[in-house]
Amino acid sequence: MTDADIYPVPTNWAKDARVDAETYAQMYGRSLADPGSFWLEQAKRLDWIKRPEIAGDWSFDEQDFHISWFRDGVLNVAANCLDRHLEKNADTVALIWEPDDPAAEPRRFTYAQLHAEVCRFANVLKAEGVRKGDRVTVYMPMIPEATFALLACARIGAIHSVVFGGFSPDALAGRITDCDSSVLITADEGRRGGKRVALKANADAAADHAPALQKMIVVKATGGDVAMQPGRDIWYHEAAAAVSADCPPEPMNAEDPLFILYTSGSTGKPKGVLHTTGGYLLWCALTHEVAFDYRPGQVYWCAADIGWVTGHSYIVYGPLANGGTTLMYEGLPNWPDASRIWQVCDRHQVEILYTAPTALRALMREGDEFVQKTSRKSLKLLGSVGEPINPEAWRWYHDVVGEGRCPIVDTWWQTETGGHMITPLPGAHALKPGSAIRPFFGIDPQIVDADGIVQTGNPAEGNLCIAKSWPGQMRTMWGDHERFFQTYFATYPGYYFSGDGCRRDTDGDYWITGRVDDVINVSGHRMGTAEVESALVLHPLVAEAAVVGFPHDIKGQGIYAYVTLNVGVTADDDLRRTLAQWVRKEIGPIATPDAIQFAPGLPKTRSGKIMRRILRKIAEGDTTNLGDISTLADPGVVEDLVANRVG
Ligand code: WT7
Repeated sequence: MTDADIYPVPTNWAKDARVDAETYAQMYGRSLADPGSFWLEQAKRLDWIKRPEIAGDWSFDEQDFHISWFRDGVLNVAANCLDRHLEKNADTVALIWEPDDPAAEPRRFTYAQLHAEVCRFANVLKAEGVRKGDRVTVYMPMIPEATFALLACARIGAIHSVVFGGFSPDALAGRITDCDSSVLITADEGRRGGKRVALKANADAAADHAPALQKMIVVKATGGDVAMQPGRDIWYHEAAAAVSADCPPEPMNAEDPLFILYTSGSTGKPKGVLHTTGGYLLWCALTHEVAFDYRPGQVYWCAADIGWVTGHSYIVYGPLANGGTTLMYEGLPNWPDASRIWQVCDRHQVEILYTAPTALRALMREGDEFVQKTSRKSLKLLGSVGEPINPEAWRWYHDVVGEGRCPIVDTWWQTETGGHMITPLPGAHALKPGSAIRPFFGIDPQIVDADGIVQTGNPAEGNLCIAKSWPGQMRTMWGDHERFFQTYFATYPGYYFSGDGCRRDTDGDYWITGRVDDVINVSGHRMGTAEVESALVLHPLVAEAAVVGFPHDIKGQGIYAYVTLNVGVTADDDLRRTLAQWVRKEIGPIATPDAIQFAPGLPKTRSGKIMRRILRKIAEGDTTNLGDISTLADPGVVEDLVANRVG
């Protein structure tokens, strides 16, 4: 590392930011030394019906495994995101909606208007029989009603489970069934990049395999033709016209569930990550304010989809808890052309932009002119999330997009963590392209080697664990508390294991190196290799499949599938396309394999375990250094795999 690779805190940021270097050191120190008083004090930023007197109560030990925060506190998330801002900021814009079509009109909702919309939506849910604790599945495009739906659930204490609109009917059905959700909120269609997404048709197909489902509330978004099933399907606008805009918030215990969000793990079955009320909201609000140095009045844009945790925490809950102005964009960053994202910044005078490295790499490839023809003068701070950002994309973001004036916060976190865990703070930390820099308040990261030995001292490299609980931590896996413990706390006893590899440099700054488990990161989206394998082996011509990630210029990682066909089946390009389509239909477009290699045999140990290390090397094109293959049952298969590599 040379000095040129270090970007010191700009003087104005060091002077004016909420948290400067000294404040960070002092607050971080106190958050670890005296977490009880630190977090009870921080909890004052929320509006409590009953203020908590207990902060964290937790143990990661198997004998006494439990995690709770503020468990004697009572509050309502929607009241914190809406009602409490009404007295002073009723006319502040809470939500700006930018439509897919640049010629269409944006929509704006003040806090007063958003409050009314959410109350109405909540009353529709109540009228359909939804009660506190019920699960409501949300399968929506990026329209304001998606935000209303989430906050409406929170208002009445229902547990939302958002399923990304790009997921297939089967994936949707599986998630509805897993959490036994009887109500689905969807829309006729979505819009993305000028195309329509057939959400209602997908929901209908899902319903055939989701016996729990009883009601579908359908928002009219495009006016497209859809079939409505009498007795089951309700138009939202009709139901909303029949209810009042007055709905008192349900008092919730801080540990009552707020939402479930399914995410991929190393087995074929997605995990229902459960977040609760008080700790989660505090974590979103505090991290949003501190990492982005957010000031009310600033227009803030998180360009994620509400179907992912980033959308939950940083489009909806964090910014609204802070009384902010959050922008929600319906479309794609590069449609109609590669200028769109910057045009949206100009149109709405965005000051803080939070996006993913994969989007930056795709835009960077189109050339600087698309950026330079826009002003971007409003931008003050840039954020990155979802995957490690390569230094080249970081510098482009910093130099070309931000014209050298905007700090970049590279925020490492996960669906499981609720919000930011390791991130620079713009007024406190010098930046290094590709480093997530330092832990947030209360976060005690530890780097552990394969034998479970904690690496003290710098530099260090190994598996990233967290030694202490934090308020935004997930509390369980829906319906499988044992799997929750086994997945995250059994590998390194006493620690939460993130599944990521990590390096700490000589200065003590953290660099995330990517997943060390069978999870891959495709365009910032998490994909379990086992899920893709399960989809492939469902095809009648497929005998066996093994899936690994490989480096991909735009996506970060691409999906490489090795497929063994049934005896007598002809392997050709047609079948390759058929299988790619098949996975797309089974899971959704994000799971489409980038490469499919037909393999007469897979490299297995004598006990039948597939040696993925070898498959990864071949997919990467690193075939000269396959390591020890002598433990394979049939070392001969490797030769065939190398000879028939796709790429
Ligand atoms: C995985 C979590 C965080 C919300 C969006 C994705 C990777 C995420 C970074 C970052 C390096 C990152 C990790 C993590 N990741 N942010 N700034 N630098 N890696 O949430 O789907 O739960 O995925 O994304 O591998 O484990 P997710």
